[in-house]
Amino acid sequence: MGMKTVADLIAQGVAGRTVLVRSDLNVPLADGVITDDGRVRAAAPTIDTLAKAGARVVVTAHLGRPKGAPDPDFSLAPVATRLGELLGTEVVLAGDVVGESAQAVVANLSDGQIALLENVRFDPRETSKADAERVALAEDFATMVGQRGAFVSDGFGVVHRKQASVYDVATLLPAYAGDLVLSEVDVLRTLTGDPARPYVVVLGGSKVSDKLAVIEALLPKVDKLLVGGGMCFTFAAAQGGRVGGSLLEKDMIGTCERLLADAGDKLVLPTDVVAADDLKAPSVTEVLPVGEIPEGRMGLDIGPESVRRFAGELAGAKTVFWNGPMGVFEVPEFAAGTKGLAQAIIDSEAFSVVGGGDSAAAVRTLGLAEDGFSHISTGGGASLEYLEGKDLPGATVLSAG
Ligand code: 3PG
Repeated sequence: MGMKTVADLIAQGVAGRTVLVRSDLNVPLADGVITDDGRVRAAAPTIDTLAKAGARVVVTAHLGRPKGAPDPDFSLAPVATRLGELLGTEVVLAGDVVGESAQAVVANLSDGQIALLENVRFDPRETSKADAERVALAEDFATMVGQRGAFVSDGFGVVHRKQASVYDVATLLPAYAGDLVLSEVDVLRTLTGDPARPYVVVLGGSKVSDKLAVIEALLPKVDKLLVGGGMCFTFAAAQGGRVGGSLLEKDMIGTCERLLADAGDKLVLPTDVVAADDLKAPSVTEVLPVGEIPEGRMGLDIGPESVRRFAGELAGAKTVFWNGPMGVFEVPEFAAGTKGLAQAIIDSEAFSVVGGGDSAAAVRTLGLAEDGFSHISTGGGASLEYLEGKDLPGATVLSAG
């Protein structure tokens, strides 16, 4: 069965009703300041639509991975402010998730007003493995929004999590898919269906162990898989190279050997890297062949020759999916690889999808044109799991009702 939409909800009439919206407002912060507000901007339209239709909108979201207890470093306060600016209206921030403050804030909402509940992961039940605990939190949400309440799932970046505010609450309240979730799923479906070829996937990021399943799942489907970022060093080690102090997952070397053997020329690895003595305050940076990094040096970005090679593969591509930066792009000395790669995607004529918080943030913080890509997904893990063909509990539950 298809998912019910926000348009369906509004058609029933939402004035006087309290609508709980799960958004993904998990933005990067530096000293309490949002460094990339992409997810807040992506979340705003659904909230705005509901408020304009007269709903009393209660937004719930997480920020980072606090340990199941309130922690001021993970407060959604900066996000409430930014959301209010974007929507041109006050967004009241409750001091807790479903406690006294949240209940009072929700009870005081008038039609068309918007409140944000404090980081839902301050409540340990949100991410609990025990179904009953998650359901108990979901019941608190359901009680708070009342008899005529409804739930809108719009946090695409979190639909791969079976968590109380994503999954369980959708089993208790009339549940609808938000426009962001619908549009993201629509785009990603074109990649899992019959993508125009050549289909090139670029994966970066630091850990091979995180990306292993996706590499295995994608290899049979793609024409080329380009691998950059910190994980390329485990592949380099698997090829017998020296990686110095670079990131290395020793227990993954065997798996990388097998993947290299199975993949043949589909798997394209960097040939050179930008190496330095220190990540934060490098006094020496040099370009070295990827398997010839001495002790005292660590590879922190892909090198210029690798960028050219990757760009060559991307030039003729018809479909591109990119997830994960090529290096530590936050540090200017190690940003060129990610920037060069992104530019090569922009220059190609391919239908291009950028998946992931980090890669999307890289596009924006490196000053690249967002409209150079066909779609910038708000989901990192979620888009990868979708492409792997895994079930996304937060999306499946919306089709179930
Ligand atoms: C993300 O950043 O990919 C989403 O917000 C999900 O966050 P999580 O990986 O901490 O569940």
